Amino acid sequence: MAFNRPKIALIGSGQIGGVLAQLCAQRHLGDVVMYDVIENMPHGKALDIAEAARINQSDVKIWGTNAYNDIEGADICIVTAGVPRRPGMSRDDLLTINATIIKTVGENIKKFAPDSHVIVISNPLDAMVALMQYITGFPKNRVYGQAGVLDSSRFATFLAWELGVSVKDINALVLGGHGDRMVPLIRYANVNGIPVMELLKEKYGSSTRAREVIEGIIARTRNAGTEIVALLQKGSAFYSPAAAAIEMVEAVLHDEKRLLPVCAYLQGEYGVDGCYAGVPVILGKEGVEKIVEITLNEEEQKMFTGSVAAVVKLIEDLIRLGFLPPQYQYEKSRLELVG
Ligand code: APR
Repeated sequence: MAFNRPKIALIGSGQIGGVLAQLCAQRHLGDVVMYDVIENMPHGKALDIAEAARINQSDVKIWGTNAYNDIEGADICIVTAGVPRRPGMSRDDLLTINATIIKTVGENIKKFAPDSHVIVISNPLDAMVALMQYITGFPKNRVYGQAGVLDSSRFATFLAWELGVSVKDINALVLGGHGDRMVPLIRYANVNGIPVMELLKEKYGSSTRAREVIEGIIARTRNAGTEIVALLQKGSAFYSPAAAAIEMVEAVLHDEKRLLPVCAYLQGEYGVDGCYAGVPVILGKEGVEKIVEITLNEEEQKMFTGSVAAVVKLIEDLIRLGFLPPQYQYEKSRLELVG
């Protein structure tokens, strides 16, 4: 089959995969193949979305499969394959199961879509991106993870609600690993250029109260995934993670040179060498085209380094469990100082 549109392969067609497929079709981003290990499920979802084509005014092709050879020649693979943590399952159990899945997925992406970009969403995010890059052996600029766009969007939403302004005017950035120790940057958060702390001080007439309010927003941002899990009871967030990944897909397919927080491979930037973590990058047709190094003050740098130390711990676990070789490159000396 010849494709004149970009080909987007969704590896994992669960909750996030389903929304990804729908958004790809609605935004005419490319032809979409939905893969999953569950028999017939991706076929059913793809058919359902395809049957809305007339309403969506969308001619993109969309089909489901249980066979990896259907992803052949994909331009972008978005990976959501994995299982959530269940009661009684240890962190190692979860890491072992998801790493095993990512290993198989990576081998098949390498075989059938060797020129693709790979956007990983599966958790634990930063470690799964590192493993995916190792398994595929793809250049590091073509293997990256979605977390920061979502975390930053959550931060922006909470700021907009607090300040009573349109979320369209909010710029907010969350860096670091996709875990409890992520780093929402207060100093750089602004409403059309006006620092949010200025606006909070104006609202409350007190620096102390403004500080308390922003700390509350930061805590909610860090806990946002858990808050949704508690409400849903079954499963985790899926609309917003899918929307966040689509923003990245558009940046790549349309070569937009967006400045977005992305889980990217660091080689000395921010004092981290040889490890994936969330940082601002320029995202375009080459994937991560540039890592943008902004100045962090002492407190921010300490939080960032602490957050990356949690990622390093997961990398060490992957080495211990045999998924990465002992010589897998990362530098932990500087992380241990503050982690
Ligand atoms: N290959 C492909 N797909 C797989 C495999 C595999 N080896 N193993 C499991 N899957 C599929 C499951 O069948 C399921 O359909 O991955 C899908 C995951 O979908 P959901 O369980 O609905 O999870 P979702 O909410 O989409 O989240 C996916 O993203 O944000 C992270 O923590 C989240 O790791 C999770 C991932």
